[in-house]
Amino acid sequence: MPKFSVTTFGCQMNVHDSTRMAEVLRHAGWTETTDENEADLIVLNTCSVREKAEHKLLSAVGKLAKLKKEKRDLVVAVAGCLAQQEGERLLGKMRQIDVLVGPDNIPELPRLVEDAAMGAPPVARTVFDLDAPVFLRAEPRPGSDVAPTAFVTIMKGCNERCSFCIVPYTRGPERYRPSREILDEIARLVDAGVREVTLLGQTVNSYRDPEGALPRAPHADPNDPDESEFAALLRAIAERVPGLLRLRYTSPHPRHLTPSLLAAHRELDVLARHVHLPVQSGSNRMLKRMIRRYTSEEYIERAGKLVESRPGTTLSTDIIVGFSGETDEDFEATLELVRAMRFRGLFGFKYSRRPYTPALKLPEDVPEEVKGARLTRLFELSEELLQEHLATLVGTRQKVLVEGPSKTGEAVTGRTERNEIVHIAGENVQALVGELVEVTIQKSFKHSLEGVLDEADRARFAIRPVPAQARRALPLV
Ligand code: 5AD
Repeated sequence: MPKFSVTTFGCQMNVHDSTRMAEVLRHAGWTETTDENEADLIVLNTCSVREKAEHKLLSAVGKLAKLKKEKRDLVVAVAGCLAQQEGERLLGKMRQIDVLVGPDNIPELPRLVEDAAMGAPPVARTVFDLDAPVFLRAEPRPGSDVAPTAFVTIMKGCNERCSFCIVPYTRGPERYRPSREILDEIARLVDAGVREVTLLGQTVNSYRDPEGALPRAPHADPNDPDESEFAALLRAIAERVPGLLRLRYTSPHPRHLTPSLLAAHRELDVLARHVHLPVQSGSNRMLKRMIRRYTSEEYIERAGKLVESRPGTTLSTDIIVGFSGETDEDFEATLELVRAMRFRGLFGFKYSRRPYTPALKLPEDVPEEVKGARLTRLFELSEELLQEHLATLVGTRQKVLVEGPSKTGEAVTGRTERNEIVHIAGENVQALVGELVEVTIQKSFKHSLEGVLDEADRARFAIRPVPAQARRALPLV
């Protein structure tokens, strides 16, 4: 059987698309390999959200040139947002590429690859499925090792016009998946052994059921333009898939953090006590230029209510530094907001001008060194906040969903409800993968925690503690 490999760049949406590509290829008779040297087809799933991502693709394709010379019938396919953004132009720039597919053209991949293998000229397919949007079903394979966590796409595209962002161009306008299909997919995943689902969408909380099958959620105001049917969807999932242990979603837009969604957080135990809520900046001047459609005061108010809705809820965020016109004061306002919100996780990015974005009209006026210095300060602050938070958890009991083996040592790694990473050491701990266990936190590291299994769980899974001298093997990160 011919073999393929997939390399993913970028966001969770891309990770999800890569899994769908693997499924589509498997259906067509391919088998997956992680070794590019033995692959007959190499798929690179690209990102274009920042220029750096584009450079990464260039270097990845460059590396394949040698392999392609040695193996004449090797097919190279490029998928994802950069493929969508550049289309045929990319084929002209990079001669190694045989097939280019946009995010909505994944089902065509096997046929295009077959044609390429037969000698067809390079081809680009980057057409949005606007009239009949397709959401490829996840296909958990019974009998294979099903990971305890899974992503489920509920919508694609984006109707926001954030001035820095290329995604509306590369992923097209918002299209929603019927709740019927979403509920069915989650139920099948849970039957196959999945314990935690993350709902995916570019602005996940603007969701509406295209078939209108969801009852109105409590506190949903139909006259509020920011209201959606996302809370109704969360309620339907909680009710109809009781076997699901945890539900997360990413990424919400603060604009749609409406009373109905706050009520869902208050009432649904299955919702994780952590939300990634991108703020982008703490300066109202910048937020306006970014076309984010909220002020920093509005963000603080809504996010504050979210935290209050379930005690212990934590937030993480995305921040762009050095956007056009950002002054030292604007940046200080961002630091102030980060301190006020006490984010427990932060992804920071230097602003990168992207083609087709409204912000191209604005001058690129923040020097690279200034962006770098601001990013360093931002990370210093976020590390400080995270470490402070992790230290407060030592001695507490936490429920951890064990996701898999740790990178080093005889340990497994999982996450708390709030998304803190916890390592659990002991003999036989691999038996815990996929289980929700109670641990007592013993130590905090820079980015994670070490937990010890409760006596009852230890007996239940026949786990022996790790002797003190072997503890060094634990990853100290
Ligand atoms: N430059 C820098 N960061 C960006 N992001 C999106 N577009 C850009 C850009 N042009 C960041 C935002 C977004 C995250 C996924 O990527 O913070 O939330």
